Amino acid sequence: MIISVSHQKGGVGKSTLAYNIAVELSKLYPVEVVDLDVQQTLTACNVIRSKFGQNKLTIHSFEENKDFIKYLNNDSDERITVIDTGGFDSGLNRVAIYASDFILTPVSTEFLEIIGLEKYKKILKEVSQKVGRDIKTHVVLNKIHHSQQNFEDISEFINTASDQFELLTSVIRRRSDFSISLGHGFSVCEFDDASDSSFEIKTLINEIIQKLDLDIEPYKLKRKRKK
Ligand SMILES: Nc1ncnc2c1ncn2[C@@H]1O[C@H](COP(=O)(O)OP(=O)(O)OP(=O)(O)O)[C@@H](O)[C@H]1O
Ligand SMILES: [Mg+2]
Repeated sequence: MIISVSHQKGGVGKSTLAYNIAVELSKLYPVEVVDLDVQQTLTACNVIRSKFGQNKLTIHSFEENKDFIKYLNNDSDERITVIDTGGFDSGLNRVAIYASDFILTPVSTEFLEIIGLEKYKKILKEVSQKVGRDIKTHVVLNKIHHSQQNFEDISEFINTASDQFELLTSVIRRRSDFSISLGHGFSVCEFDDASDSSFEIKTLINEIIQKLDLDIEPYKLKRKRKK
């Protein structure tokens, strides 16, 4: 089972979300990570993580398409591979797109980020044409200001912009604990399980589990999120 966090645009929160999803999913199911980000953000966070006494994630990196494809060919339902792609268009990132069972694309509601989806749409179309099937991505709103409560317009825009986009209902707010926790190699849930960010990440994971129809017990979320 392969989940990629993918967008050719930089700085949208791919590594942040990939890390949080990988760490928290690994508590429910065997997880491996592929770090395609040239900055090797997840690999660095994993080193810090072990220094702070947390269990290390299994992380792979690849430079050649053939090595990456060989790894992907050994994919199994017994584990979930979370791929953090780089914020650019490349052969490796395109392989991740076509090999994925689920693609997650973070965007904020900033105008320039929404415009960035146009370029990504072209990449998805080209890869779809090459492999002869329609590849779609699940867009998740990330870094959203706490004052923004209405997502009707953005939802309509994204869902009608292309058949290749489906907006998830989960919304991840802009919160400082995302960068603070990453600095310790922790997920936001490990940093403070009672936090709003923890609630949001677990809600997102539950939505992914449900969309993929995975045989995994979702997180029980009793906490009421603060507005
Ligand atoms: N929900 C959030 N709240 C606050 N800050 C966030 C959130 N998500 C990401 N960030 C911050 O945004 C910045 C970019 O995030 P990140 O490195 O995860 O993006 P990226 O898409 O992986 O970038 P690149 O394309 O360069 O790999 C970081 O400083 C990160 O801490
Ligand atoms: Mg990154």
